[in-house]
Amino acid sequence: MAPPTVLITGAGGRTGQIVFMKLKERSDQFVARGLVRTEESKEKIGGAADVYVGDIRDVGSIVPAFEGMDALIILTSAVPKMKPGFDPTQGGRPEFYFEDGAYPEQVDWIGQKNQIDAAKAAGVKHIVLVGSMGGTNPSHPLNRLGNGNILVWKRKSEQYLADSGVPYTIIRPGGLLDQEGGLRELIVGKDDELLQTETRSIPRADVAEACVQALLFEETKCRAFDLASKPEGMGTPTKDFKALFSQLIARF
Ligand SMILES: NC(=O)c1ccc[n+]([C@@H]2O[C@H](COP(=O)([O-])OP(=O)(O)OC[C@H]3O[C@@H](n4cnc5c(N)ncnc54)[C@H](OP(=O)(O)O)[C@@H]3O)[C@@H](O)[C@H]2O)c1
Repeated sequence: MAPPTVLITGAGGRTGQIVFMKLKERSDQFVARGLVRTEESKEKIGGAADVYVGDIRDVGSIVPAFEGMDALIILTSAVPKMKPGFDPTQGGRPEFYFEDGAYPEQVDWIGQKNQIDAAKAAGVKHIVLVGSMGGTNPSHPLNRLGNGNILVWKRKSEQYLADSGVPYTIIRPGGLLDQEGGLRELIVGKDDELLQTETRSIPRADVAEACVQALLFEETKCRAFDLASKPEGMGTPTKDFKALFSQLIARF
């Protein structure tokens, strides 16, 4: 049987790049395709013909990337920018803003809804969406960042996916770390319960691996879960993803 073709969106992003690379490394298991927003991002990840350029806020621009896809991994996100003038030596906290038209409502809600609709129309059989922990609390401080309500809009698109009728997996990681993957024991949870513990962060590389592994196991279908990791050196690095995913129970 031919390997499934998998589209990764946000493929120029920090986690998306790792997913794209992992899919390409496993060419016996997957045919990878990337979607990025700009030509610069396309160049950053190799600039080959399997990288499409489109803006998720404009559904017409992304439809070609979805043609013939079997699975979709969504790793796009609104990205807050730091207001200029912040001087760390003066103490205090930096302020953030979103560019006009690139607020979480447009990117994390409309942009993700567009992807889910395009995937459904293309007959995609599995959608993996990376959201975020913290979404059960509307007063979460991240919602105040740039007045963007980012977790509220992410949650809305998660709900839209769960209601879409397409088999889905929603992964809600804790704080993302730029550290090596494969060295930590991964922990799954639900309803933000992990936020009350010490294990609430995870390397981007481990989130990327979980996205790829989610495509391989039925246990992840129609499941939503929080994902974090024990500190390196504590516990046993996760290798058996089937065992990890067999703990999943929540549909949302
Ligand atoms: N940071 C954390 O601690 C944390 C914690 C939990 C969950 N998360 C979530 O985890 C996910 C991965 O995070 P990350 O930091 O790896 O991501 P990231 O580097 O911020 O990447 C986001 C990607 O989305 C793309 N994008 C933004 N607007 C777009 C548009 N209109 N059309 C097409 N693509 C667009 C960006 O493209 P360009 O590069 O071209 O702009 C970028 O590649 C995100 O959903 C994030 O919110 C983050």
